[in-house]
Amino acid sequence: KSNTVAKSLGGKLYFGSATDNPELTDTTYKAKLGDNTLFGQITPGNSMKWDATEPQQGVFTFTNGDVIANLSKTNGQLLRGHNCVWYNQLPSWVSSGGFSAAQLTSILQNHTMNVVKHYAGQELHIDAADEDAWDVVNEPFNDDGTVRQFVFSEALNLSYVTTALVAARAADPKAKLYINEYNIDSAGAKSTSMMNLVSSLKAAGTPIDGIGIQGHLIVGQVPSKAALIANYQAFTALGVEIAITELDIRMTLPETPALRAQQQADYTTVISACKAVAGCVGVTIWDYTDKYSWIPGVFSGQGAALPWDDNLAIKPAYDGIIAGF
Ligand code: XIL
Repeated sequence: KSNTVAKSLGGKLYFGSATDNPELTDTTYKAKLGDNTLFGQITPGNSMKWDATEPQQGVFTFTNGDVIANLSKTNGQLLRGHNCVWYNQLPSWVSSGGFSAAQLTSILQNHTMNVVKHYAGQELHIDAADEDAWDVVNEPFNDDGTVRQFVFSEALNLSYVTTALVAARAADPKAKLYINEYNIDSAGAKSTSMMNLVSSLKAAGTPIDGIGIQGHLIVGQVPSKAALIANYQAFTALGVEIAITELDIRMTLPETPALRAQQQADYTTVISACKAVAGCVGVTIWDYTDKYSWIPGVFSGQGAALPWDDNLAIKPAYDGIIAGF
């Protein structure tokens, strides 16, 4: 099986991209996404989230997620599942259901078990050491390092993290189980909270294999390579792997040659920092073209965060990525 998987641009690491179902009707886009000499891994941007997979209690819909999983199989790419539990894109039956703590625990177990089990064993391997990965828990902390409050943490504090990880392990014993978070690129309160959580999970014997560092960054404000490496090493010293899971480096529009040049350097910084740390297994960009980036829709006046432009032409950031690998 592993022989069918081409090495991506990342070589020993994987290099991958998020994608989303609606944009797959764009045949030029889809063809480039499927080039596994470029992208060795894909992540569904939306279609494995809770609102997509269990829109009503006990009713599981895998149609759109399957499209992405099948694409990864067809193209010989690794698949990262994303995600089992997150405060966003939760269906209202969960967030406003008035459930007890015990009910919420079993709702979370049932959801995680069903979704992870559905995709178990679908993974392709770049080499024997590679396994499928799941962002089991997404964004558990606030930027100040406190526990993010939403329906599960309000009722269960951080024990919901353990519940989800244990259920995911039972559903797919081979998948690498991750906690995924943003603004944990360098040292700080949020990174410290992540380390404390992972240490306590490890001490309790809870299955945890990786920390996903999303990497939604800003041109000209990327931490230094040394600061990134120090933090990445502090994470891997806990006995887990890490991955850069959602890299994009946005700018205030309009895009200028100077901003593009800075962005090129910033991409090199992040990729080369991952490459410098033994436990950093790969880098995923949060889609590959500005045409389908989530940034302009969420950060007003910002965008141009990705290495391919609106017309699917490479930008200097692409060379920055090559240089980083
Ligand atoms: C984003 C998707 O890209 C958008 O299409 C959607 O509208 C909102 O979510 N952190 C995450 C991702 O973990 O799931 C988010 O994806 C981006 C921020």
